[in-house]
Amino acid sequence: MIDPFGRTITYLRVSVTDRCDLRCVYCMSEDMTFLPKGDLLTLEELDRLCSAFVDAGTRKIRITGGEPLVRRGIMNLFRALSRHIASGRLSEVTVTTNGSQLARYAHELADCGVRRINVSLDTLDAARFKAITRWGDFNRVMAGIDAAQRAGLAVKLNAVALKGVNDDEIETMVAFAHGRGMDLTFIEVMPLGDIDASRFDQYMPLTQVRARLTERFTLEDIPYRTGGPARYMRVKETGGRVGFITPLTHNFCESCNRVRVTCTGTLYMCLGQNDAADLRTPLRASEGDDLLHETLRAAIARKPKGHDFIIDRTTRQPAVRRHMSVTGG
Ligand SMILES: C[S@@+](CC[C@H](N)C(=O)[O-])C[C@H]1O[C@@H](n2cnc3c(N)ncnc32)[C@H](O)[C@@H]1O
Ligand code: SF4
Repeated sequence: MIDPFGRTITYLRVSVTDRCDLRCVYCMSEDMTFLPKGDLLTLEELDRLCSAFVDAGTRKIRITGGEPLVRRGIMNLFRALSRHIASGRLSEVTVTTNGSQLARYAHELADCGVRRINVSLDTLDAARFKAITRWGDFNRVMAGIDAAQRAGLAVKLNAVALKGVNDDEIETMVAFAHGRGMDLTFIEVMPLGDIDASRFDQYMPLTQVRARLTERFTLEDIPYRTGGPARYMRVKETGGRVGFITPLTHNFCESCNRVRVTCTGTLYMCLGQNDAADLRTPLRASEGDDLLHETLRAAIARKPKGHDFIIDRTTRQPAVRRHMSVTGG
């Protein structure tokens, strides 16, 4: 799959549910309306859809959500996808999770061929964790991270930089992550979906995060890339890596190699645009995948050059109406 700007699309992110057991303040409002369960693709359909992407050249799949590990039977999907890892057609299957269910599933994930996972963790303070996630239990997530490392999974932490919330923990989080052999990536708040608070109040440019880090650490440029939008630097004192995902202050679209599918089979060619293609109808229309491939080709031909994220200071409206939990980031 090659888009009109010459970018080869090899990376698929699949949001397997829009539901979540947490309500992070920057991601969801407390009172969310979720999709009726009947609208969701079954796990078998998700497997078929992913496999069609593999046929079309996808090399890497990330399972995300909502919280992917709260979807019932989700391990069946990981188990099914592991056949593509075994055959070498997929180079990896990864998952982005809030960690709440990891203690239960870490071993099975490893057994299904998952090697790396991303765990979202914005603070090391239990009370703050509660305030940010509204419903979360910090110790449970820590137990999940322990279990993942014991199972041999490489864990990368993702932290959203939140002004006045976790900005005083930036150095501590780097020291913690690197002390446990984990990379840590900071993310800027993106204007996706209505939430109860104002994103303008939460937004902290990563230039500030980097400035804070350079007061305590020596940051060295490194060429390391994971195929994602993060730019990495090595922290000389710890030897670990710190990543920066800066959708608002730096445009990362030139090297975009990904598309996203939601749990209802809607394909978004760009996280920051509204154009989408319905894959559920062609998927259900016939047993063969020809129609699906045709729809896919037409959609990739419309992949836009990039997003136009701005946090609008006058209307304070999100740039994109759907929440991050729909596409999984
Ligand atoms: C939507 S979550 C889905 C996976 C899983 N529930 C988790 O939290 O890791 C994926 C990532 O998006 C981030 N995220 C959610 N809403 C965001 C927003 N508005 N701006 C930036 N990052 C956001 C989360 O912090 C998380 O790291
Ligand atoms: S960021 Fe992840 S854990 Fe937090 S509410 Fe959104 S989907 Fe749930």
